[in-house]
Amino acid sequence: MYPLHQPTFLMCPPTHFSVQYAINPWMKGNLGRTDKQLATEQWHALAHALKECGGAVETIDPDPTLPDMVFTANVAAIVGELAIQSHFTHAERRVEATHAARWLSGRGFKLAQLPEGLDLEGTGDLLRDFKLPLTWAGYGYRTSLEAHRIAAEALQYEILTLRLVNPRFYHLDVCLAPLTHGHVMYYPGAFDAASLEAIESRVKPSHRIVVGEDDALNFACNAIPCGDAVILHRASDRLKAHLAEAGYRVVEVDLSQFMLAGGSARCLVLPLLEPRLTPSSAKCHLKEAHVRLEGHLLDFSVLARALDLVTTQGCSFDVEEFKPGRRSRDISVARLRVIAPSEQLLAETTAALGALAELQARVEVGSV
Ligand code: ARG
Repeated sequence: MYPLHQPTFLMCPPTHFSVQYAINPWMKGNLGRTDKQLATEQWHALAHALKECGGAVETIDPDPTLPDMVFTANVAAIVGELAIQSHFTHAERRVEATHAARWLSGRGFKLAQLPEGLDLEGTGDLLRDFKLPLTWAGYGYRTSLEAHRIAAEALQYEILTLRLVNPRFYHLDVCLAPLTHGHVMYYPGAFDAASLEAIESRVKPSHRIVVGEDDALNFACNAIPCGDAVILHRASDRLKAHLAEAGYRVVEVDLSQFMLAGGSARCLVLPLLEPRLTPSSAKCHLKEAHVRLEGHLLDFSVLARALDLVTTQGCSFDVEEFKPGRRSRDISVARLRVIAPSEQLLAETTAALGALAELQARVEVGSV
């Protein structure tokens, strides 16, 4: 099937869709509350809208044990003929990625795998820009920060890291949508300050479509760009006017059933035609340092506090070595690799770790 010549979307029929567990805040309180008939109608309405807007729809067979498999957006990330197979954070969804990998390789896509221990939830967190040769990448709830570097290398593409800080907006595609003419529609309340600056540094003011909380909670950013059309669940008159001014036609499709599971239009499709824009090569802005902690790390939870500090700063860690002191007088030694989205955050985080010295630990920072 690859190469493709028209926007093509992989969808999975909602035959077995329901809310059976709660892995995001939207699902809480909705267990068993979906209506099969209504979900089926809404899903067909979305497939119909895609075709009306010039798209083609391909389907993958649903698996009766995977109620979230309708959300095909999450199963892989694609650039050109390359696809990275996802690894889901939650065990409940992991098998979806295996089904998708088989489907994609059967259609001629080359597959890349993630190293063990990292998570990546496909285009839920990796969204290709339509004009800039880069992929916007989210982390904070599902996709691991380190997976951004792997994605840049596997796809040979620039990855621009954004931190998600609002649990309702647990995937990037529920709070940001790159649109076909180069606009980026986003909800600022979902990001930290550094990420908002990163968006502003790449997208000129005329191309920013800032969405308010009311629209964001209606999944307006979870939109499917298809030609001049932007297909979404619902948009306020204000947002519709803004999109029209920017040259887009808004197509609303009621997807309330899928919102009970925390997903909407964009979550229900995996775009298969993702042309590589040139020039493109692997580029990732993550920075790393080695940090050696030495002291009474087990007393006063020094190590736990150090690791906690790293993650609350928005960085991640890999404990490369740990030698616990065996008796109360013995000291412990830990060697961490600290991964940060930027040089500045790396410096702030290692400095904050240095302040732990007060807690009877000696901290040495080295570069990777
Ligand atoms: N219940 C699914 C989950 O929490 C919804 C996924 C929505 N997909 C998306 N691309 N945002 O994983």
